[in-house]
Amino acid sequence: MSAEIQPDARPFDEMPIITRLDDYSFTMPTLLARESQRLGPIFRAQVSEEGQATFGRWIVFMVGPEANRFVMHSHREHFSHDLGWSPTLGGIFEKGLLNTDDPEHARQRRLMNPAFAISYMTRYLPIMNRVIADRSRDWAERGEIDIYAEARKITFDVAAECLVGLRTGADVDHLRELFYALMQPDWDGIETMAEYVAKMMSVRNELDALLLEKIAACRASPTDDILGMLVKAGDEQSAPFTDRELLGQLHILLVAGHETTTTLSAWLLYLLAEHPELLARMHTEMDEALAATGGEVTLDAIRAMRLLGYTVDETGRLYSPVGNVPRGVVKDFAFGGYHVPAGSRVLLSLAACHRLPNIFTNPDVFDPDRFAPPREDDKRTPYSLVTFGGGPRICIGINFAQVEVKAMAAHILRRYTLKPVPGQDLAQVYYSPIGSPINGIRLRVAPRTEQSGG
Ligand code: HEM
Repeated sequence: MSAEIQPDARPFDEMPIITRLDDYSFTMPTLLARESQRLGPIFRAQVSEEGQATFGRWIVFMVGPEANRFVMHSHREHFSHDLGWSPTLGGIFEKGLLNTDDPEHARQRRLMNPAFAISYMTRYLPIMNRVIADRSRDWAERGEIDIYAEARKITFDVAAECLVGLRTGADVDHLRELFYALMQPDWDGIETMAEYVAKMMSVRNELDALLLEKIAACRASPTDDILGMLVKAGDEQSAPFTDRELLGQLHILLVAGHETTTTLSAWLLYLLAEHPELLARMHTEMDEALAATGGEVTLDAIRAMRLLGYTVDETGRLYSPVGNVPRGVVKDFAFGGYHVPAGSRVLLSLAACHRLPNIFTNPDVFDPDRFAPPREDDKRTPYSLVTFGGGPRICIGINFAQVEVKAMAAHILRRYTLKPVPGQDLAQVYYSPIGSPINGIRLRVAPRTEQSGG
């Protein structure tokens, strides 16, 4: 389907309209999947009155593998990441890789790619293993934990150390405090917008002072972390990063990197706890893989755990950490029989694509074996499993996130048995593009013994 050659495409005004009810943030993946089966891969919804000043009157939804290929690959020059993501991030953070367009984006991505290559994961894995071990040491003593809250501590500590070399402790806690003050502002004592802006500015200044100090120290004596690599990056093709650009990259890496990984790992451990047969198979696979490495969680051991890989894929499909990715339309296009003018705003729904029954059999059922040969649901249709996006702008942290989530699962399952606390009201909610379990996820934790662990 080409953007230019669709002479029969109908005008934007005739595009079908859907209604989003109050429970939309909870039902979004299945609702949009259903609507796309009824109406086709493109439809629109009216933006709420308060949102119209920022987002315009209509939001265009695009759903399915063809839509993913169109937006992420074949017609990507029609779409702006900046006009999509920057308003969504609300101007709180400096610009970074996620919300920059080509050609500037291409330069930045070239400079950043090496720090995220699979070969560099050997640097980050020991940090991940140490943080996971330290943070999970007392779980059995505590008996019950909220795995979402715990995973969040782990992923933030890992991000802080791998990005800027801050070790778990007071410095990371300070960074965490500042970061969350921006992400989830506390409205207590704030009465006017001016007071809100002043408070945000003061937190931003403090966060930036901390990060700029790190950047200056790193320029003076390069460190062995991601910032260290970014400071050194640059060649005759691509000018090196300025301090301001480095600051933006650090902001965006923290935003894009840790909430997403938290959501994926929390649901993964819950789903394993909820499916004892799968867990028993996983224990067998894990014991074999770790026997070969003397119990150490190495990249080779992680690679050998195929069933864990399928389970991570299935968790990402059912509980997509990124629900919809936003784009601003910068050049008119036609797709699915309708014209869309420049200036429109699109949400490409990754989470809804993952619930399409013509791609994923029984899409609402948790079934990791759908990704194992010979079924390989995702391989039959390119751009169908898009947990990490796709095309040239696929998530730069895909290796990092996968290694971290798998290391967490291996470490925890090796030591503990997990059981969900019964009677919880569990649900993924998408109040923003990044989904999270609304009430957390409570698990009972006991030491793993021969009898209990399978
Ligand atoms: C489970 C964890 C993660 C998920 C599900 C995820 C998902 C995604 C998705 C869907 C995109 C594409 C966005 C778009 O097309 O607009 C993306 C981009 C991005 N992600 Fe991730 N991500 C994860 C972890 C990470 C980590 C750990 C980092 C960094 C440490 C990271 C950094 C980024 C950046 C910088 C981009 C923008 C890439 C570009 O536009 O070139 N992500 N991610």
